[in-house]
Amino acid sequence: MTARIIDGNALSAEVRGQLATRAAALAAKGITPCLAVILVGEDPASAVYVRNKVAACEKAGMRSLRDVYAPDVDPAVVFARIAELNADPTVHGILVQLPLPRHFDSEAVLEAISPEKDVDGFHAENVGALMQGNPRFIPCTPYGVMKMLESANVPLKGAEVVIVGRSNIVGKPMAMLLLAQSCTVTICHSQSKDLAFHTRRADILVAAVGRAKMITGDMIKPGATVIDVGINRTPEGKLCGDVDFETAKEVAGAITPVPGGVGPMTITMLLANTLEAAERTQK
Ligand code: GUN
Repeated sequence: MTARIIDGNALSAEVRGQLATRAAALAAKGITPCLAVILVGEDPASAVYVRNKVAACEKAGMRSLRDVYAPDVDPAVVFARIAELNADPTVHGILVQLPLPRHFDSEAVLEAISPEKDVDGFHAENVGALMQGNPRFIPCTPYGVMKMLESANVPLKGAEVVIVGRSNIVGKPMAMLLLAQSCTVTICHSQSKDLAFHTRRADILVAAVGRAKMITGDMIKPGATVIDVGINRTPEGKLCGDVDFETAKEVAGAITPVPGGVGPMTITMLLANTLEAAERTQK
């Protein structure tokens, strides 16, 4: 059996079409949704992500601002810029690309963003709201994964879910969202004993560790839905996920590819959150 492919590019195009209609309705009222992105340092992957986010805004008819700072910038400069963006009524979303250089207190930076403009959903207030089952902004990658599961008609109620990775960006919010849909959720991490024992039980397996091809076909339950959040490079420089696609697709029932899976949905949900933030200023 070869798994059904859950196509993130196709779903992105569909969702972005819906967003464009909503953006046009706002534009008719004289409001253009605007996302401000802050990048500190020269990490090449972060630079690519930020470029893609800004380009997606422009394509969707949204405004974007991009501030790029040297890796040794005084954090006070970045805090001052966040305060300025918080106070600017024409800016609806603010995103600080992570990771930040080591001399930054990342948590303090995320807390400095106004919770109403925190389109990443990383501010403690928004994390708490998600945990209480009343989210203001859903973190973009897990939000995209939920849309993919929905579009692929994957049954959630009572499903055994195993998430590999416990990050604040993906693993933890992903667990909250799936728990809210009545899944039974297990989170595995680098200290988990016998990872394959857990992954083989999963009806839905979410891989979000950042290690190329670490989930192989023999670790997957036949017919399971496999969601690959990883974006890695092989030694030959080819893009690949955390899942070994070639062996996994022979066992899984449905699978997201890399590239063209979760990645485009993450950016799409960032646009959705920015639009939502702009719409809320009207309420
Ligand atoms: N770094 C990796 N993923 C993300 C993300 O979703 N948001 C931000 N701000 N930084 C990231």
